[in-house]
Amino acid sequence: MSDTYDVVIIGAGPGGYNCAIRAGQLGLKVACVEKNPTLGGTCLNVGCIPSKALLHASEMFAAAKHDFAGMGIKFGKLDLDLKQMMAQKDEAVDGLTKGVEYLFKKNKVERVNGHGRILGPGQVEVATPEGDVQVLKTRHIVIATGSEPATLPGIEIDEERIVTNTGAIALKNVPKKLVLIGAGVIGLELGSVWSRLGAEVEVVEYLDHCLPGADGEISKATRKTFESQGLNFHFGQKVTGVEKLKTKLKVNMEAVSGGETQTLDADAVIVAVGRRPYTEGLGLDKAGIATDKRGVIEVSDGHFRVAEGIWAVGDAIHGPMLAHKAEDDGVAVAELIAGKAGHVDYDLVPSVVYTNPEIAWVGRTEEQLKQAGIEYSKGKFPFQANSRARCNHETEGFVKILADKKTDRVLGAHMIGVGVGDMIHEVCVAMEFGGASEDIARTCHAHPTMSEAVRQAAMGVEGWTMQM
Ligand code: NAI
Repeated sequence: MSDTYDVVIIGAGPGGYNCAIRAGQLGLKVACVEKNPTLGGTCLNVGCIPSKALLHASEMFAAAKHDFAGMGIKFGKLDLDLKQMMAQKDEAVDGLTKGVEYLFKKNKVERVNGHGRILGPGQVEVATPEGDVQVLKTRHIVIATGSEPATLPGIEIDEERIVTNTGAIALKNVPKKLVLIGAGVIGLELGSVWSRLGAEVEVVEYLDHCLPGADGEISKATRKTFESQGLNFHFGQKVTGVEKLKTKLKVNMEAVSGGETQTLDADAVIVAVGRRPYTEGLGLDKAGIATDKRGVIEVSDGHFRVAEGIWAVGDAIHGPMLAHKAEDDGVAVAELIAGKAGHVDYDLVPSVVYTNPEIAWVGRTEEQLKQAGIEYSKGKFPFQANSRARCNHETEGFVKILADKKTDRVLGAHMIGVGVGDMIHEVCVAMEFGGASEDIARTCHAHPTMSEAVRQAAMGVEGWTMQM
């Protein structure tokens, strides 16, 4: 093994592995350092992928329970085999982490096992759990170390009863009473999984609404939807601590507006109050790399460069903490190192919540447009009026398109409905090309599809929506 690389990437999550693969494709000599036994980071091992496997399986369970009879499908007794549900989730994770290994080999990316630390420009020390240490020499270093769950004072995570996303995708039994702290993306996704499997779910949220960052109308619709699915929200409440009793947990909370306290009983508690960059033991000080108060690495040139020959991507830097944003950062950095152009437009990173119905958005919300004083027109279309949604009995939700009042350029799209996590992308492409709502409205969409709701919402911007 030669010791001199073009790029050494620390971390093999979506930011790191995509950077490594793209750098390999561009003919660079690449090593990727990873401390975990499997590749893929949070996303593949304990985040996006396992949660989606559980969301899908629990959705099918719920459909069998509530919807099949109405469609004329009869069967005997319905039973939950949680062990098998977890096994199929593990199988998805295993297959995909091995897929990254395969892509590393295919693109000549060298995998180095161990914890990486920057010694200074051009030098990365790697320490294995067995205590072996080696130093890799390189022209460029990419920090792709991702993030870890944020915690709260008074709460001791044990990943058994008081869990983050890691423990929440591996509970051994369905808890009778589950308390979720945080009504953000993780809270809603994992809350729906366990609620569908039979848990009584209480969600405690600091703010007076769910899904911070979402368009106000979407946030309201989301609350209504999940309340109708049985989630019980406690808004404007701050969790002050979780007491561990022998068989029960007691979640203490306090009204944000002032003093009043309450306690909820629980068998399990999921803490989902956001994430913070993971840069522990990385040697940032020695390399002269600055972070802000939250530990976010500061990018000096707007293009991922954090020091001479050192770059950073994904959750460790600013921008949305999302796997697909990290992937795009990683690719852009590989291209910049190879002397090409590399850029990511953070205004066009879609957000998707993979619940049932899904929630998706891209671009600006109505609140943001109002605050910026931008005049806009709005088109909205309910799935209730979409023929395919009616055939499938999936009529909940709507699509909303926001466009500049004068130029008609699309400024944002906000959707709630089955499958909107896929539908959002036609608006992303339109926005990437600087498209107008009329461009979407005049694009032929196949009938009958759920996507016609996107077209109808776009038609609605200029007032010519055709109801069913
Ligand atoms: P989040 O930022 O989406 O939500 C955290 C929620 O916790 C917020 O609503 C916040 O107001 C609330 N909160 C904070 N402190 C609190 C307190 N003391 N008491 C009660 N509530 C409190 O973070 P979340 O859900 O933990 O997700 C972490 C990250 O992972 C996010 O960046 C998210 O975008 C990402 N993620 C993305 C997914 C997706 O794209 N589908 C899936 C899962 C996670």
